[in-house]
Amino acid sequence: MSSIESASSAVVSREAAVHPQWSSRLAFILAATGSAVGLGNIWKFPYITGENGGGAFVLVYLLCILVVGLPILAAEILLGRRSGCSPIKGMTLLARRDAVSLRWGWMAWVGFVAAFVLLSFYSVVGGWSLAYIGLAAQGFFSGADAATIGGLFGQLLEDPGALLLWHSVFMLLVVLITGSGVRAGMERSIKLLMPLLFVLLLVLVGYAAVRGNFAQALSFLFSPDFSKLSTEGVLTALGHAFFTLSTGICVMMAYGSYLPPQVNIARTVVTIGLLDTLVALLAGLAIFPLVFANGLEPGAGPGLIFVTLPLAFGQMTGGVLFGTLFFILLLVAAVTSAISMIEPVVEWLEDKGVSRMLGALMSGAMIWLLGVCTVLSFNVWADFHPLDFMARFEGKTLFDLFDFLVSNLALPIGGLAIALYAGWAMKPQTLRDGIGLGDGAVFTLFHFVLRFLSPAAVLVVFVYNLG
Ligand code: PHE
Repeated sequence: MSSIESASSAVVSREAAVHPQWSSRLAFILAATGSAVGLGNIWKFPYITGENGGGAFVLVYLLCILVVGLPILAAEILLGRRSGCSPIKGMTLLARRDAVSLRWGWMAWVGFVAAFVLLSFYSVVGGWSLAYIGLAAQGFFSGADAATIGGLFGQLLEDPGALLLWHSVFMLLVVLITGSGVRAGMERSIKLLMPLLFVLLLVLVGYAAVRGNFAQALSFLFSPDFSKLSTEGVLTALGHAFFTLSTGICVMMAYGSYLPPQVNIARTVVTIGLLDTLVALLAGLAIFPLVFANGLEPGAGPGLIFVTLPLAFGQMTGGVLFGTLFFILLLVAAVTSAISMIEPVVEWLEDKGVSRMLGALMSGAMIWLLGVCTVLSFNVWADFHPLDFMARFEGKTLFDLFDFLVSNLALPIGGLAIALYAGWAMKPQTLRDGIGLGDGAVFTLFHFVLRFLSPAAVLVVFVYNLG
């Protein structure tokens, strides 16, 4: 073997050992869907929909997914596939190849920091699902009323020790999975677990249809009343479109870097978007009928699913089994998203010569530490509102602020940069060859959306919000 051959085979085998080598389009769809479908769909979508008055918010959210989220997701995956390496290195590489300013590289840094902060609080919420697996399995929900179940959630939040324990266990899981680069295992388990989550959600929707106030939930979710939607609500919908598709902070860029060239990106992105939206809407249909039937508050905030679904499990036959299974699947959905958040960080450390396990441990430890702020913001620091001097941030805890920083600022700004790069910095021919929409009217429309519509949407919402 020549030295060049052996060097390149060493690179290939290093990459094979270290990085996901998507074996097929299906494998990529599963991994990307695993990243997209997470706490964002089942935990966050219902509660922000409740806080923002329902139908009008859902409509704006769906529009944001279609017009802003999906085109940018496609562009992000393409950038990753073209670069073939970690986002931070990759964006500079692409800028050089496309002969544009190397300053484009900063967008990968925004993503890098955002993913870090995001995982720090995502892990705490992931920890709640761990805690709830235990509560469900021990039959704590059986026959309990809304007040008792609400009390359980309150107790969890007030206990920094318990939150810290579950946050630590969750981070440990993420570090171990990422560190050992378990791809085949992940692929196989996602293939099994995602459909299971789907089926279980359908069971819950069925239960809610029979036992809950389904009609009121349908009208809450699908009949828009724009008087209930604030401009901040629009920004939240936009931010959530990015959040739920995992796009805007280079996570999908990292995943895209292992996508085989023959895979059609456009078609893949549509599949991911459909699955993701379906899971969110199903979660809404499982939760809101119970909210209305039990006189609960749709705008109750982050605790919404942890208060409503246990009520259902407490009353249904087989509720202990279904409840335990549901929270296990919620955990799986959260973990498959969390490993995608840490991936760009670990990949970047690897580029710097740090081993994968050490990189995962180092970044995991720092993320864990930041997560302690979120843990404390629910109890010891509940009254610590560092930005109270600004009217719009009044009363917001550290957890609220982290979420705002990531969901409402970093994701849209990162998404804007991706749209601008793909729409303006890249040659249209390169975009056309990569995206898989042919070269007819559909591509022209896509290019227009990416160049004008998506950036304009993000900017308008920002300017409104700042004003
Ligand atoms: N899409 C994930 C969810 O809905 C969250 C996520 C955001 C994951 C950004 C990666 C990057 O839970």
